[in-house]
Amino acid sequence: MNILEIVFSAFWLMVPPYIANSSAVVFGGGKPIDLGFEWNGERVLGDGKTWRGAIGGFISGFIVSHIFNFINNNIALTLPIFPLIASISLPLGAILGDILASFIKRRIGHSRGEPLIGIDQLDFVMGSWILTIILAPIWFQEFFTLYILIAIVFMTPLIHFSANLLGYSIGIKKEPW
Ligand code: CTP
Ligand code: MG
Repeated sequence: MNILEIVFSAFWLMVPPYIANSSAVVFGGGKPIDLGFEWNGERVLGDGKTWRGAIGGFISGFIVSHIFNFINNNIALTLPIFPLIASISLPLGAILGDILASFIKRRIGHSRGEPLIGIDQLDFVMGSWILTIILAPIWFQEFFTLYILIAIVFMTPLIHFSANLLGYSIGIKKEPW
């Protein structure tokens, strides 16, 4: 694979988590996942993690992986096909990784929305990888090669920041990160 193919495959593979993570912002609102409960005087997760955001995000990522499979099959591209298990683990892992990061942020005294550079950009990526390694290890090994993983780590903060800036400028996100 040349560099362009690596970057394109990396992007293709990560669209379900990217869509899950960004759709959570669009669908977010309503009941917080932690239902307002506190732990040691701090919210367990905070108002930034809601049921609507988590479920809406997961379903969006799941649907997008099927749309991508459809495109791939019909235009006969040679890009990775998402097996059913990966079309679940990639967006679900992204949502869970983001929730876990909020849990950690609350424990170290970061209030909702306060940036944590590195974690905010990669929490959902790590979540999607880890859940996919657990649920679809052979598929993960086949497509997430070392170069693809490196490309994702460099590419994600750029995409994340651009998307958040867009969300902020159209008023669906409170902070530009
Ligand atoms: N969101 C949501 N449910 C989720 C994830 C995100 O409702 N599971 C929505 C919330 O409105 C949240 C916004 O998307 O404020 C941005 O997400 P994120 O940056 O992950 O949350 P923060 O508000 O920064 O909260 P935290 O500090 O806990 O990460
Ligand atoms: Mg945030």
